[in-house]
Amino acid sequence: MNAFRLTRTLPADATAAALRGDVLHGLTSTPKTLPPTWFYDARGSEIFEAITQIPEYPVWRAELGLLRQHAEAIALRTGARTLIELGSGAYSAKTRHLLDALTGLHAYVPVDVCESALRQAGQALIVERPGLTVHALVADFTSVLALPDTPGPKLLAFLGSTIGNFLPAERAAFLSCLSALLSPGDALLLGADLVKDEAALVAAYDDPAGLTSDFNKNVLRVINSRLDADFDPDAFEHVALFDTAHEWIEMRLRSLVDQTVKIRALDLAVDFSAGEDLCTEISAKFRREGLAAELAAAGLELAHWFTGPGQEYGLALAVPRRPGADRPPAGRSTACVS
Ligand code: TRP
Repeated sequence: MNAFRLTRTLPADATAAALRGDVLHGLTSTPKTLPPTWFYDARGSEIFEAITQIPEYPVWRAELGLLRQHAEAIALRTGARTLIELGSGAYSAKTRHLLDALTGLHAYVPVDVCESALRQAGQALIVERPGLTVHALVADFTSVLALPDTPGPKLLAFLGSTIGNFLPAERAAFLSCLSALLSPGDALLLGADLVKDEAALVAAYDDPAGLTSDFNKNVLRVINSRLDADFDPDAFEHVALFDTAHEWIEMRLRSLVDQTVKIRALDLAVDFSAGEDLCTEISAKFRREGLAAELAAAGLELAHWFTGPGQEYGLALAVPRRPGADRPPAGRSTACVS
């Protein structure tokens, strides 16, 4: 029996169309922006894997530690038979802890825009866990998600503090969207990096070896190769700063010179002046109360909160609010952010 299946939930050209739309919109806006989705081609996923291992980036290790410690409690509380992981990337030790703990698991549904990462993960899993059905989805989880029909209860995992990469309004829409995917008995496992010392926060996004800079600039290479553009990554400087009012890290690419970039597939020429910033990502940092309120607004209840002694990182286990409790209006759209 072939226990690995891979589905493209969108037509083959939909991802290309989304990239074109994002680039056209973002580079003709003021200030210029690009969404973070497009960091993650095969090379971007590899650089990100490397970032998770550097000492300056504690986010990944903190979450791994919490999962190692609490995966069994999470498994006991959810009794999940399907694990869905959004932005699963390469098969990681984090996923392994969850899979080990979820003894009654029937299906694993990894969702990612990076097909090569999904295939690698699938191959490893087939060998390691022959009994498990793996149904990978090549999808941008910020748009409509059609999940395969697998048995409940379902545990929907959204790790890595990727929730922080949405702007607040997008985040609210996205959480409602996730909430709409859950039935009573299902649960959401959400990883969130917490507000802490500013210098440590900034260092995590500006390592001296330059991996983060390389990762940030990868979005330019993706646009070059997929939209026939002529970005020179060396003509931009990586910038990371903490916005204390919003409590988020901002990642930018600052043009070092006056320059015009051509994006031939869009028939577009984009002028950058020296010192002009292109915003490539925010990474919001959270507090428990704020996150609980945001979950509640999406119809979810924070059932358990796992954190370490230093309160660096939080893992929220949230469940759909019981019938009778205040519910958001029915008929929420499943079309998420974009
Ligand atoms: N979700 C990760 C985070 O916000 C993504 C990330 C980590 C990232 N390091 C980065 C994105 C550097 C861009 C550049 O922590």
